[in-house]
Order: sequence, then C-alpha cells, then structure tokens
Amino acid sequence: METNYCIPFFTILIQLMSTVNSQLNCPATDPAINYRPVIGIVSHPGDGASGRLNSSSDVSYIAASYVKFAEMGGARVIPIIYTDPPEIINQKLNLVNGIIFTGGRTKKGPYFEVVKGIFEKVLEKNDAGEHFPLLAICLGFELITMIISKDNNILEEFSASHQASTVQFVENIKLEGTVFGRFPPALLEKMTTHCLVMQNHRFGISPEGLQANKDLCRFFRILTTSVDKETKVYVSSMQAQRYPVTALQWHPEKAVFEWGSSQIPHTEDAIQVTQNVANYFVSEARKSPNKPATNKLLDNLIYNYSPSYAGKVRGSFEEVYLFTPRPTLSSL
Ligand SMILES: *[C@@H]1O[C@H](CO)[C@@H](O)[C@H](O)[C@H]1NC(C)=O
Repeated sequence: METNYCIPFFTILIQLMSTVNSQLNCPATDPAINYRPVIGIVSHPGDGASGRLNSSSDVSYIAASYVKFAEMGGARVIPIIYTDPPEIINQKLNLVNGIIFTGGRTKKGPYFEVVKGIFEKVLEKNDAGEHFPLLAICLGFELITMIISKDNNILEEFSASHQASTVQFVENIKLEGTVFGRFPPALLEKMTTHCLVMQNHRFGISPEGLQANKDLCRFFRILTTSVDKETKVYVSSMQAQRYPVTALQWHPEKAVFEWGSSQIPHTEDAIQVTQNVANYFVSEARKSPNKPATNKLLDNLIYNYSPSYAGKVRGSFEEVYLFTPRPTLSSL
C-alpha cells in the first residue's frame, strides 16, 4: 500500500527536478551579441526651455525623452556633452555602442563642428569593422544631410511644425534590415493611412533634392516620404546603403514621452511605432563588440545627472538634462 502512495510522489519529484534542471541549463547567450549596450546622446545648445531653466551661454541639454527612448530599447545612456574638450568626447565615444543625434535648431558654429566630427568617427569605426550604429532624428537628419552632401545650403523649407503625419513607403522597397524591418506588417500598413508619427520641422529635403546630390544619393536610400501642410513632399526616413545609419525627419521619442504639443499622437499604434524603432536601434547597438570596463562607464552614465522639469515652465520638453562644460580634463 505505502509504495503505491509513494509512486506518484516520486513521479512529481522527478518532474520537478527535471524542470529545475532545464532552468539551470538555459542555453548560453550568444557570444557575438553585446547584451549591455550603451548609447551616446549628443547634447544641444541651450536649456530646451528658452532660458527659463538656465540662461548661461555655455549650457546644453538633452531632452529626457531621448534618454528614456534608448532605455526603453534595453540600453544605458552616456551624455556626450558637446561643449566638452575633444579628448573627453573621444574618450566617451570609446565607451558607447551607438549614437543618437537629437532634434533641435542649431545648424552652425561649434555644435555643428562637433556633430560633424562625431559623424566622421561613426563612419571611421564602421569602416574599421566595428558595428557602430547612428540614429539621426529631425535636426540630426538635417545635419548629416548637410555634412554628407558637403552643401550647407542643401535643405529646403517645409511647413511641418507641430504636425502628425503618415509615411509613404517608396514603391517596391525592401524593408528587411532597415528600421522598419521587424515592424508588424499591420502596423506598417497603418502608418500609411493614420498619422502615427510626429513631425516638427521647418526644413528638410525633397526626394528630388536628395537625388540631385551625388554624395547623398550614394550614401542613402529613401525609405519613406511624407507631405507637409502645403502638400510638399519631403523625405521622412532614410537608411544608409553601407552603414548602420538611420535618419528620421520625424520624432520617434515623442509619442511615448512628450506631452507639450496637442498634436503628438499617443495612440497605441503610435506607441508601438516608438517601441519598434527603439528595439531596432538598440538591437543594432548590441552588434557592437565594444565592452569597456564597468568602472570606466559608471562615472559617465546619465544616472550621474538629474533632469529638470521643463514642461512646467513651458519648455519644449517635459524633462531635460542640463550640462555645463567640465572645467578640467581630470574630472573624467
Ligand atoms: C546654470 O547656469 C549657471 C550660471 O548662470 C551655472 O553656474 C550652473 O552650473 C548652470 N546649471 C546647470 C545645471 O548647468
């Protein structure tokens, strides 16, 4: 009798042990993938709140929405403070696995030169065999368009301030391997009919303008176009032919994290667009083999800074990180 009771118990025990065993034997992670990616985000001149938070001339900011966007994809963030000495910027570039150029308005001066230098480094790293992705958003899109074309007057004026829009995919485009490559097909379809992406720009480039420039044409292929308030067509998404460089004229970070403009779409579909872009970009960063020592990362991570509530003082963003230049090299 007793053994009869025992059999089911042993069976359960053996089943339990095999479950524990399979948990202990989770397949090894892929050694080719970097599971601890870090994204560098370049700061932009000003305080993002027309001086209401900090009016000093050398202050720069990163809207927290870009930081949270990278974090949402599974990365940590290091701010690349554009006013820092070139040595520090270079050291930081060696700590990260990808770069974001944010939106903003400054197209000249030291900021432009720093962005140009970092863009050249991005290409250099990739040419040397290190997968090193760049996501250039809005102003970032415009700046690399100027840099690649070697024409600071190449941008055209568009009327797309505070405007949600659709995107139209270039006919017969192959999206595999691009930012849209792993979007659910139904979401891609909806992007063509529903205003799921937020535009906020007064400049841009038309497909004709892009095609007329040999360097731009060779570097990028157009993925999508959109239409401004005066029905003028501009390039809204493009992907480099030979580099992990994606340029979006629209703002993937806003749908989830910004509330200042009533035009920003916050539908579940719009949120999914944001999440898919973040997943794509950080998955590209996971291909970067660069794994610096933890102690070098800690002092530079965004966690060393606290954001200010800019939305409350009618700034352009809900939260911004503010930076002033480091006085000395030794502080890194
Ligand atoms: C704000 O500006 C002042 C100078 O007016 C400066 O000393 C201070 O460090 C700045 N604050 C931040 C957070 O950058």
